[in-house]
Amino acid sequence: MKINSAEFVISNSEVAKCPKDRIPEYAFIGRSNVGKSSLINMLTNNKNLAKTSSRPGKTQLINHFLINKNWHLVDLPGYGYAKVSKTTKAKFQQFITDYFESREQLICAFVLVDIRHEPQKIDLEFIEYLGESEIPFCIIFTKADKIGKNVIQKNVAAYKKNLLANNWEEMPQYFVTSSENALGKEDVLNYIDSVNQE
Ligand code: GTP
Ligand code: MG
Repeated sequence: MKINSAEFVISNSEVAKCPKDRIPEYAFIGRSNVGKSSLINMLTNNKNLAKTSSRPGKTQLINHFLINKNWHLVDLPGYGYAKVSKTTKAKFQQFITDYFESREQLICAFVLVDIRHEPQKIDLEFIEYLGESEIPFCIIFTKADKIGKNVIQKNVAAYKKNLLANNWEEMPQYFVTSSENALGKEDVLNYIDSVNQE
């Protein structure tokens, strides 16, 4: 899919204030600093569209971007950075779970995971939460430029093994990406395009 236009629409701290139009929406979620905002900029060919930072906790609001005048990309704040409290749900800021539970326009969530690390508990819990909530999602491995091909394969395999051991019947649809060298760009955009055509 070719990106012809990418425009910032609005930032909100409350899901209730997000755009009411019935246009399809794709959201990027994952731990703080995993590269959500950078990926949105890479996909849309615009380094300045979503604000990025080397310090975790940069994105604090729900940010809607209108792509090609007919679908939304949503940049969300990360989880796992704010103080973690006891219940699983409270680990993810309330407005993040509100977003996923109430946003009827949401077509697919992209859960970003740093390819360099072993499967992390909080990411596995978030994937579990999406599964239990019956929210369609894909996994996007980020920062693939930082490691070699063999390690990428090894870490994806470790993820798969972990999910299958946790009662997932198969590895969810996944993409290996880098915002530095645009790896995975066409695959992610074509996936969105194919789902939009359905
Ligand atoms: P929060 O908004 O804080 O939740 O973070 P985020 O997930 O939006 O991360 P962001 O895009 O701001 O990127 C965090 C840091 O990782 C920045 O310093 C980016 O330059 C860096 N980064 C993001 N993606 C990549 C990547 O694919 N490769 C490399 N090498 N660095 C990346
Ligand atoms: Mg961000």
